Amino acid sequence: MTRQIYLGVNVDHVATLRQARGTNYPCPVHAALVAEQAGADGITMHLREDRRHIVDRDIERMAEMTQSKLNFEMAATEEMLEIALRIQPADVCLVPERREELTTEGGLDVVRNRSQLTDFCGQLAEAGIRVSLFIDPDAAQIEASCAVGVPVVELHTGAYAEAGLDMADELARLSHTANLADGLGLIVNAGHGLHKRNVAPIARIPQIHELNIGHALIADAVFSGLNTAVRDMKHCMQSARAMV
Ligand code: PXP
Repeated sequence: MTRQIYLGVNVDHVATLRQARGTNYPCPVHAALVAEQAGADGITMHLREDRRHIVDRDIERMAEMTQSKLNFEMAATEEMLEIALRIQPADVCLVPERREELTTEGGLDVVRNRSQLTDFCGQLAEAGIRVSLFIDPDAAQIEASCAVGVPVVELHTGAYAEAGLDMADELARLSHTANLADGLGLIVNAGHGLHKRNVAPIARIPQIHELNIGHALIADAVFSGLNTAVRDMKHCMQSARAMV
């Protein structure tokens, strides 16, 4: 039987627009509520160390207001651990973070940081939070994630999105590693750089459970409205999955 595919809407860039002017609008929590009404299966937000878009107040309000599943993206730091344990999101996705990057550039190096991550993820899991590791589509990183004991991995689709003519190779890499992770019992999510024109081949990978999509979806919303942008994205994903 064909598995369902779910959409997590990342609302960080609603906050980017707000922070650009230091206003109190547009509100990412309001955006999350609109996205939920349009069919988003979850809301994703990344509280960065430098608070460049989402700020602490957003996280608190989001945790109170969202009806769907809140996926809190964060770096594996003590400051973020304290916040996650306080707000208790359904999911935490651990990402690498560098101040100078424009966006999350690569996946976590789970192979190298296995013992620290095992301890860190254990504290989140004990609090009932489902932990995901954002990793490159690489067999060694998947095996290390499995050894850390997390239930979920999110495969970084940035290389696929930027591959141009090498897209088929990147797609094969994602497909192969999604199958490997699924075989090890991991839930497989994916995201980064996805938009309406490149999402279908990813949605056709049958093991992929959820896609987290932000920048292109919020950009589409400028022209079509957020409700339509979310509906269109879900339609692209679900019609691709229906062909599997
Ligand atoms: N997944 C993770 C872990 C991310 O860090 C990001 C970017 O914040 C996304 C998905 C969404 O990427 P994009 O904004 O390019 O859709």
